[in-house]
Amino acid sequence: MAISSQPLVGLVGWRGMVGSVLMDRMTAERDFDLIEPLFFSTSNAGGAAPAQARNETTLRDAHDLDELKRCEVIVSCQGGDYTSEVFPKLRAAGWNGHWIDAASTLRMKDDAVIILDPVNLPVIRNALARGARNWIGGNCTVSCMLMGVGALYKAGLVEWMSTMTYQAASGGGAQHMRELLTQFGTLNAEVKALLGDPKSAILEIDRKVIAKQRSLTADETANFGVPLGGSLIPWIDKDLGIGKGRDEPGWGVSREEWKGMAETNKILGQGEGFGTPAVPVDGFCVRVGAMRCHSQALTFKLNKDVPVADVEAMIAADNDWVKVVPNTREATLEHLTPVAVTGTMTIPVGRIRKLAMGPEYLGAFTIGDQLLWGAAEPLRRMLRILLEA
Ligand code: HSE
Repeated sequence: MAISSQPLVGLVGWRGMVGSVLMDRMTAERDFDLIEPLFFSTSNAGGAAPAQARNETTLRDAHDLDELKRCEVIVSCQGGDYTSEVFPKLRAAGWNGHWIDAASTLRMKDDAVIILDPVNLPVIRNALARGARNWIGGNCTVSCMLMGVGALYKAGLVEWMSTMTYQAASGGGAQHMRELLTQFGTLNAEVKALLGDPKSAILEIDRKVIAKQRSLTADETANFGVPLGGSLIPWIDKDLGIGKGRDEPGWGVSREEWKGMAETNKILGQGEGFGTPAVPVDGFCVRVGAMRCHSQALTFKLNKDVPVADVEAMIAADNDWVKVVPNTREATLEHLTPVAVTGTMTIPVGRIRKLAMGPEYLGAFTIGDQLLWGAAEPLRRMLRILLEA
């Protein structure tokens, strides 16, 4: 279905963390010039719409199906509970428009496409031609990984991949970021006097820090459940308990780890539902004290021995945002850290080298801002694809 020029586009959840990043990107790319935005709210219907509004200057109730039905496209960053509640009612009420969503709720449904157009534009175009209407942003870790090393998958070189992640606090949400910073502050305050004295004993500082971490209150760890400042958490999202026994593949996987294989293959249009074999992807997902960049150490088993220079050239040529970082200490420290990448669209891929296991085993390390390529950017690019269709 082609959409009209200057279509009415409903925006839900535009004030939250992902929504605010989306609004900034849409403003920077002048997406609002091409649409008539209709801003929805779950809490402030009737209030004033933001500066990007044109003719529709009041906030509409995000649960008002009649208002939602007016939109040709709805973009939601409101979260999974909202999607679960409103989306089925809207479709049941006969709404035929395009639903673009950051939440994971609909991602694995047969009629939903996971959108990451620099990686899977052909999958998106095929689905569009078949009349697809549900466009869902991928898991942030998977999207950032494929923006970096999608070239190896596209070239059919990957026999399997293992990913070990270092995921930022923002993946949990805004409150998680605040909690992390508050914990850092609490720990620093605990040893401030000792830190100020260059002659103080480091082991005394260490004892005080661990005692403080272990005595943080339930309020101080309300979001992560345990301290993250000065620690890490090797479990993200639910315990799926998949698999029949502990000796079988897939047993004991976290939901975030499960998404790695399920979503990578679905984005690429392969595996279950596409009649082709899935590439195995597995590893451990770990929360660390970074703010908003997800990092990952990748191990590939390639199906042939490809020279490192060819791998680098393939990765570098794949899209406009990926940057190969030379595998040197200096370049790594300068370009391959969450601090270097935060707030940018760049997806650096570095530490590219053959591993000791053999010439088909390749290592790499990649980082992405999980609010940009990991969440907001694929949504606004899907809107552009619809506008250009
Ligand atoms: N599940 C991700 C995380 C966030 O917790 O880091 C978004 O996909």
